[in-house]
Amino acid sequence: MAVTVTTMQKMKQAGDKITWLTAYDYSFASLIDNAGIDAILVGDSLGMVMQGHATPVPVTLEDAAYHTACVARGASNCMIVGDLPFGSYQVSKEQAYQSAVTLMQAGAHTIKLEGGELQVETIRFLVERGIAVCAHIGLTPQSVHQLGGFKVQGRGDAAQQLIDDAVKVEQAGAFAVVLEAVPAALAKQISERLSIPTIGIGAGVDCDGQVLVLQDMIGIYPKKSPKFCKNFMYGSASIEAAIERYIKEVKDRDFPALEHSFS
Ligand code: KIV
Ligand code: NA
Repeated sequence: MAVTVTTMQKMKQAGDKITWLTAYDYSFASLIDNAGIDAILVGDSLGMVMQGHATPVPVTLEDAAYHTACVARGASNCMIVGDLPFGSYQVSKEQAYQSAVTLMQAGAHTIKLEGGELQVETIRFLVERGIAVCAHIGLTPQSVHQLGGFKVQGRGDAAQQLIDDAVKVEQAGAFAVVLEAVPAALAKQISERLSIPTIGIGAGVDCDGQVLVLQDMIGIYPKKSPKFCKNFMYGSASIEAAIERYIKEVKDRDFPALEHSFS
């Protein structure tokens, strides 16, 4: 692992955009790593794009560990972020620690979990025990049945809660925070306020970094992809070229454009 939490912290300070993509297997992990990505997230989006479920809710810790191990065999330079699935960390901070250990033993360097203020105790517990934690706020897909669908978050009165969530996960020791499907202006405000990097997906161009689901980014997911996605295969001669163009467009602030963002 050449890219670390320190690398990402320095990139934020220097104003260099941080690039993440998801992957779930050896071959794509190797391809993405060779293209120079900063992090591969072994997202629980695997429930949808690898397993064909409608949501990530059915993904188990065993599934996540299996795919993390596959990715770890293919990636040697980037950070590997393991995504704690639904039900593997909400019971207690001890349960979260055990699940994080499982993903790290499978090859993850860091872990991600969904939630802001409500996960502060868990984040602090993991960080105090040597685990680098990324939080994930805004649209949190594991709560999709409670949210009533995959919808933009943080509009109107909900904006202040999202800011509070971001500040509190930073205070708890998170090394980064994913902002999903939030208005671009709010994501900009949060990114300026925090000293840790924000990684946006459907959160506008002013986040410190971006992440996309691989299958959306190369346009092979058979169902409808969200508005914030872009198919980088258009105009690219190969998957490698598409991945390289994603990285370049993020670094050049060409992606996401306004059409991929929410106001
Ligand atoms: O599971 C996933 O792919 C994610 C990203 C979309 C942030 O959590
Ligand atoms: Na996820």
